[in-house]
Amino acid sequence: MTSIMFKGAKIISTGSAIPSTKLSNHEISEIVQTSDEWIFTRTGIKERRVLQNLDQSIIDLAVAASNKALNKISMDANEIDLIILATSSPDDLFGSASKIQSKIGATNAVAFDLTAACSGFVIALVTASQFLQTGSYRNVLIIGADVLSKWTDWSDRSTCILFGDAAGAAILQSCDVNNNSVLGFQLNTNGNYSNHLSIAYKQGSYPHPKLNLYQGSFKYIAMNGKEVYKFAVFQVPLSILNCLKSLNISVTEVDWLLLHQANERILSAIADKLSIDSSKVISNLDKYGNTSAASIPLALDEELEQSKISTNDIIVIAGFGAGLTWGTIVLRW
Ligand code: COA
Repeated sequence: MTSIMFKGAKIISTGSAIPSTKLSNHEISEIVQTSDEWIFTRTGIKERRVLQNLDQSIIDLAVAASNKALNKISMDANEIDLIILATSSPDDLFGSASKIQSKIGATNAVAFDLTAACSGFVIALVTASQFLQTGSYRNVLIIGADVLSKWTDWSDRSTCILFGDAAGAAILQSCDVNNNSVLGFQLNTNGNYSNHLSIAYKQGSYPHPKLNLYQGSFKYIAMNGKEVYKFAVFQVPLSILNCLKSLNISVTEVDWLLLHQANERILSAIADKLSIDSSKVISNLDKYGNTSAASIPLALDEELEQSKISTNDIIVIAGFGAGLTWGTIVLRW
């Protein structure tokens, strides 16, 4: 899918933040019946970061990632017009983006949350580029942040081995249409399978005998791992191929494949299906596990820090996860 474009859009800075506490596979094997060997061979994960400090929340991670992105380019937060927080684990059901707006001092920005689980950052990137390419806004801050450790059933060995906490941010700016970097996208949802991965509503108790209603909370992460695995390996390559085809870009022209960091075996299977060499596949799963909406911006920030990505490189970014929702965005760096 391409859009009506009056202006171009490009990422001008990135930042990321992780909690200081590491949780290794070995430590998890002391909580549930599993082993470092089982987890590593099935997922590629060695350890993950978890937010342990009671005084810290997703807001602190998101603010730290955002400030790093702002500081790298010496941008005043007042210049930001829009903040989109992609998260499924906000501090506040009404949204956490406004707290980030306040804490970084982005007084001129409107801020809202976007819930699309592990596809959240890709959809935030698409949404931000729409506002920029139509000329509505000049500077947009997008953040992918999740603290799924708060929503993990730590007695369920099939899910508690997978997830970690983190935040990643990117600042996008409008530019001349000839310098446009966000080339195109392809997004999908199939809600028929939403029960394969969810943090479902939990019916609570009646607040008062005279009131015929109940108050709720949320359950922990529930997942059908096999089905999610099959879905990702089948649908994501199709989305990438469709997106590249619509842009007249061949798979051989792809310099970097940046997939949502869910499972090393999923990354390899998708790359194999596309005949993309493993040297082009960005992966940091071993250190962080699946950090949901944060995984793509965290990996992108790390690659940029290591100066691996060069000007004009074609980067294919694909997210997939709960919804089920999946999609691709193609950038020319
Ligand atoms: N340690 C040891 N054994 C485990 C285990 C663990 N952490 N988790 C499950 N097992 C056991 C199962 O109980 C089962 O035992 P059984 O054969 O005696 O019944 C066996 O290992 C195989 O389980 P299965 O669920 O078939 O494993 P799998 O090969 O499908 O791997 C996942 C499980 C979760 C690693 C894999 O399905 C997966 O990665 N799916 C995608 C999940 C994902 O990425 N979700 C997020 C998307 S955004």
